[in-house]
Amino acid sequence: MLTEDYIQRFLFLSSSGLSRAGLIVLFFSIFNMVASLYGTLLWALDSPGYIFRESNVKVAEYESLRNMDSPYIIQLYLDPNNLQNTEETLAQVVGSELLKPSLNYTLTGEVQRGTPKITTPTRQDDVGARIWLDSEGFSVSPDTLAMYPLSERIDDQVFPTKLIYFGGGSAKWNCTFNIQQHVLTRDSGNYHWEARDRIDNIWASFGAGGGSAAMVQVFTVTKGTRRHTFVESVLRATMLTNPDVPFAAQDVEDLVRRSGTMNEIESNDPHIDQIVGDMMSAQDQNLSYHSGFNTADNGNLTELQRNWGYYSVTNPALGDQFSLIILTTTNITLITSETIDKPPTPFKNCDHVSFQNEAFGGRITQTDCVGRTTNKNNNVFFGQVDTAAVLVAYGLGNGRSGVSSESLDGIVMSWTRNMSARIEGLFIARGYVVSVDPTLVTMSVDKLMIAIFGGQKW
Ligand SMILES: *[C@@H]1O[C@H](CO)[C@@H](O)[C@H](O)[C@H]1NC(C)=O
Ligand SMILES: *[C@@H]1O[C@H](CO)[C@@H](O)[C@H](O)[C@H]1NC(C)=O
Ligand SMILES: *[C@@H]1O[C@H](CO)[C@@H](O)[C@H](O)[C@H]1NC(C)=O
Ligand SMILES: *[C@@H]1O[C@H](CO)[C@@H](O)[C@H](O)[C@H]1NC(C)=O
Ligand SMILES: *[C@@H]1O[C@H](CO)[C@@H](O)[C@H](O)[C@H]1NC(C)=O
Ligand SMILES: *[C@@H]1O[C@H](CO)[C@@H](O)[C@H](O)[C@H]1NC(C)=O
Repeated sequence: MLTEDYIQRFLFLSSSGLSRAGLIVLFFSIFNMVASLYGTLLWALDSPGYIFRESNVKVAEYESLRNMDSPYIIQLYLDPNNLQNTEETLAQVVGSELLKPSLNYTLTGEVQRGTPKITTPTRQDDVGARIWLDSEGFSVSPDTLAMYPLSERIDDQVFPTKLIYFGGGSAKWNCTFNIQQHVLTRDSGNYHWEARDRIDNIWASFGAGGGSAAMVQVFTVTKGTRRHTFVESVLRATMLTNPDVPFAAQDVEDLVRRSGTMNEIESNDPHIDQIVGDMMSAQDQNLSYHSGFNTADNGNLTELQRNWGYYSVTNPALGDQFSLIILTTTNITLITSETIDKPPTPFKNCDHVSFQNEAFGGRITQTDCVGRTTNKNNNVFFGQVDTAAVLVAYGLGNGRSGVSSESLDGIVMSWTRNMSARIEGLFIARGYVVSVDPTLVTMSVDKLMIAIFGGQKW
């Protein structure tokens, strides 16, 4: 590397003769050579003689080193004995495989975000909390079916749907029922392109009873040339037992109190006593119960949804019977709205149904042809949903425990709360790199430099 330098200077010297410019180059060459020798001497004394020079750059500057096949799901296993290390390597883990391994880089969490833009709701009376994006009803909400059972009637049992209220931009429910739930973990977001809904469920991949866990997801939805970027966080606390060993009231209460992520005030909320009482009473009667709400927050840029559920589950086919408490808190926040140059075009067409492109980590992989048909517009291309980056953090608790201190680990939970803003910032950076615009994301790059004279430490 150094030799090449000198050869180049030499060539320059001989081609330009002893012109003034040539002299200046000659001067610097000699000076540099001396300096380099001085440096060489130091290397011998002060090995290894290489230094890392850290600099902040935009990810787009290294576009040629981008890994176009990077994963969009990152899993984090939180071990209470190893949180310090997890914290130190967090930025590396969240940024992993975005760029080729030849580059030593770290996401800084710095992103030049745009501004979120919402519109006035097109519906109020019959819908819960949504983030409204255009005058045609385009909107995003938490899962507005999460409080309904998969089937309203099983055998002679009917679910009390009357106890679910939607309206005025919020929803609430409080239902005790005798229908066995099968899949109990539908708590991701819905997209409403117009009046139609679809559900995207990242939890499905890890099923019910997976234990306490946290998820952070960055996703974009694009309709025409309008693209909106969201960040969603979900905390799920679960506790499991079998009917021979019912849950103790103090465990239920402790879990309900500690699972709140919203604020400290929650631990004194009288509402909690009601929820705990409702759950204990459902348990005594061998029934299931859930209550919860969704509501807008943060100037209507955020939708919050919470569900407190006690489910008595039987699976006659397997002769299996258990009781499960699942508490979820969902926060969906719009962070940027922008106009892009070109609208998405259909990746593949679907016959007779309305559909959308589905992308993961910025790569469009399929169209979703399961949309509902309507009489008028039965083959509309809605746009594109891109699940840009997903974090699933495991280790918040033992999925098979009926003891609240094991079901929701106090130390891991405290760490997760302390780190949530940083984790979210890093995920937003990852999401922007793959699905929004890598020119807006800063990373720090460590380059190995030979310790030449030039104002370094000595
Ligand atoms: C990358 O940079 C970090 C921090 O400067 C350094 O500790 C690490 O050894 C470097 N890794 C490689 C593979 O060069
Ligand atoms: C919801 O998430 C947004 C974005 O991270 C955050 O600013 C807001 O404080 C959160 N709201 C609550 C109630 O946690
Ligand atoms: C749910 O409804 C029951 C019956 O009306 C009531 O006793 C209970 O306090 C309600 N629970 C909550 C959390 O509102
Ligand atoms: C609830 O189920 C248990 C175990 O199957 C049974 O022993 C008990 O009698 C049931 N209680 C009620 C109120 O049905
Ligand atoms: C939020 O939405 C509600 C319902 O549409 C509306 O009344 C309220 O003014 C909105 N608030 C803000 C800050 O936009
Ligand atoms: C979280 O932050 C609080 C307050 O700064 C601190 O007392 C607690 O030890 C932290 N938790 C962990 C697990 O680091």
